[in-house]
Amino acid sequence: MTFHIDFKGEKVIPVRAGQTVLDASLAAGIPHYHACGGKGQCTTCRVLVLHGKEHLSPLSSYEKTIKTVRKFPDNVRLACQSFVTGEGVQVQRLIKDDTDRYIFINGAEESSLTEVMGVRRKLALFFIDIRNFTPFIESHLPFDVIHIMRRIFTLVRNAIDHYGGQIIDTAGDGLYAVFGLDSKIRKATEAAVLAGIKILEDIKIFNNTYMRPYFHHAFEVGIGVHVGKVIYGNVGIGLNNNLTVMGYPVNVAARLQAATKELNNSFIISERAYGLLRNPPYAPDAALLNLKGVSKALEVRLIGKPYEHGVAGETPA
Ligand code: FES
Repeated sequence: MTFHIDFKGEKVIPVRAGQTVLDASLAAGIPHYHACGGKGQCTTCRVLVLHGKEHLSPLSSYEKTIKTVRKFPDNVRLACQSFVTGEGVQVQRLIKDDTDRYIFINGAEESSLTEVMGVRRKLALFFIDIRNFTPFIESHLPFDVIHIMRRIFTLVRNAIDHYGGQIIDTAGDGLYAVFGLDSKIRKATEAAVLAGIKILEDIKIFNNTYMRPYFHHAFEVGIGVHVGKVIYGNVGIGLNNNLTVMGYPVNVAARLQAATKELNNSFIISERAYGLLRNPPYAPDAALLNLKGVSKALEVRLIGKPYEHGVAGETPA
């Protein structure tokens, strides 16, 4: 019996009974990498199964071992170990040229291949910035600056970790994180807001118990939260395999964080994010925010507090 398999973006090919997916693709002229010669040991033949995984043979013992060791997700199969048992299977080759080979084999012995390939998902996007760090930098020793920066970032990271978020990047005296990689968007949004509230409270305690007594300084932060569909994936090339999150909602979240200054409120979330909260902190003020290149203003909620020491970041007396 002969079935067919669709190699996405390449061709639909016939697969005879007893023929592996790799045998069939090579017979059809697809330049399918198979470094170990089809022995189930190199994984260069692996494919992402987009449709019809139920019409592929069960995992071979090689695949079971590799899946455990390399933590491959369920939708990745070794073409040299898979047989087709029905119609409707669509796959995508993961290693198509030498650059792919470098990225996938030498560069990124990844923990999750789906992350490497990119995933579109609705996430809660969280931006935070320390408001008045520059005056502190200018009037203190480098050692103190780095030490205090570490203290604050530890405090922020602990809150984000506690509520299940993941830090994506840091830049200067700010960072951004996402919530929802392992949870639904409603829960993720609540977690992002709770993390933000905890950070505001912890910063207040840190100011009162440490910064004011020892440095005569107090920090304030600005936080922005938005939700939206973004693409995340690992775009590392072997030097720095970090998760990256891309999409317009990321820009919106960054804009909300920046707007904490002009709206004089330490925590701003979009109306869309606010609408997902089951237990909003309280009935906060609303405002409209203009976004660059967008004619309709964005509705936002101010769930933080006005800045105690002004919005320009001046050092308190
Ligand atoms: S060709 Fe090496 S695992 Fe399939």
